Amino acid sequence: MNIGTIQFDKYPVFLAPMEDVTDISFRLLCKKFGADMVYTEFISSDALIRHISKTKTKLEIKDEERPVAMQIYGREVEPMVEAARICEEARPDILDINFGCPVKKVAGKGAGSGMLRTPEKMLEITRAVVRAVNIPVTVKTRLGWDHDSKIIVELAERLQDCGIAGLTIHGRTRSQMYTGEADWTLIGEVKNNPRMHIPITGNGDITSPEACKQAFDRYGVDAVMIGRASIGAPWIFREIKQYLKTGEKAPKEPFEYYLSVLKRQILQSVNRLDERRGILHSRRHIAVSPLFKGIPDFKPTRIAMLKANTVKELFDIMDNISSNFVTF
Ligand SMILES: Cc1cc2nc3c(=O)[nH]c(=O)nc-3n(C[C@H](O)[C@H](O)[C@H](O)COP(=O)(O)O)c2cc1C
Repeated sequence: MNIGTIQFDKYPVFLAPMEDVTDISFRLLCKKFGADMVYTEFISSDALIRHISKTKTKLEIKDEERPVAMQIYGREVEPMVEAARICEEARPDILDINFGCPVKKVAGKGAGSGMLRTPEKMLEITRAVVRAVNIPVTVKTRLGWDHDSKIIVELAERLQDCGIAGLTIHGRTRSQMYTGEADWTLIGEVKNNPRMHIPITGNGDITSPEACKQAFDRYGVDAVMIGRASIGAPWIFREIKQYLKTGEKAPKEPFEYYLSVLKRQILQSVNRLDERRGILHSRRHIAVSPLFKGIPDFKPTRIAMLKANTVKELFDIMDNISSNFVTF
C-alpha cells in the first residue's frame, strides 16, 4: 500500500493524532515499538499563521520518526493554505487535514468535524490545500455529523476527487463524540466502493491484536489507526505487529519491563519540557496505563502517582508497586 510515494508493508498500523499525547517523544517511542506511521497533534492554522510559539513547537519532527504526518485544522481556506505551506517547510512526509475533531471549541466553530455540516467548504479547503503543497495531503474525518447525516460514502468520493492521497475514517458521528461503539461497516463500505482508489485507514476502538486483524480481514482497510489504546501502553504496536505477522501473540514481558518503558517516557518528557511540566504531561499516560489494571486496592497508589511532583517521588512509588498481583 502506498500513500503518495510512501510505501508501507502489509497491514500498516498507525499512531493516531492526539492533542497533548502525540508529542515528539511519544511518537518516537511508538515508532520504536513498530508504528508504521505517526501523526503529530493537531495544529491550529489560525495559531500557526499568527506565529504562536507553543503552536510552533508542534512543527518539530525528527528523521527517526519518519514517515510522520503533520495535522492541521481550521475553518477558512486562506489560513489553512498558509498553515499548510508553513507545515511543508517543516518537512513532514504527509500533511493531514483534520475534519474529525468533535470537541465543542473546534467543531462548534465549524472546524474539525464541524466541516461535516458544510461539506462544500470542506472540499474547497481540501482542494486549496492539495494545490498549495507538494507533499501528499490526506484527510481524517468521521462518518457524518449525526445519525441522520452519515454522508461518508459519498463524501469520500468527493474528497478523493480533490486530489487527496489517503483518507482516515473514524467510525463514529460527531454527535457520538466517543460514546457507543465505533461502527466499521461504513468504513468497509467506503473501502469496497469500486470508485475509490485511494488508501483507506480505519480508526476506532481497536484495543487488541485480534481486533486489529479483524479490522483488516473483515473490512479490507489498507491501514488501521490506533489512538487511546496506545496511551500508557506504547508497546501495543509491537504486540499488534507481531500478531499480524505471525498469527501468534507475543509472550508478555515481566512487569518491570513495562514499568521501565513508562519511566523512560516520563524522563523523556521531563528532559524535553522541565520536571514540573514533564510530570504533568506524563500523568495522562500513567492514569490510564493498562499496566496497573487489576491490581487490588490500587486506587491510593494511583492517586499518589498522579500527585507526585518530582521524578524521584514518582519513581519511588512506581518501584514499590508489587508485581505479585499484576494480571496485565
Ligand atoms: C486525548 C485525545 C486527543 C485527540 N486529538 C486528536 C487530534 O489532535 N487530531 C485528530 O484527528 N484526532 C484526535 N483525537 C482522535 C483520535 O485520533 C482517534 O480518532 C480517536 O481516539 C479514536 O480512535 P481510538 O478508538 O483508537 O482511540 C484525539 C483523541 C484523544 C483521546
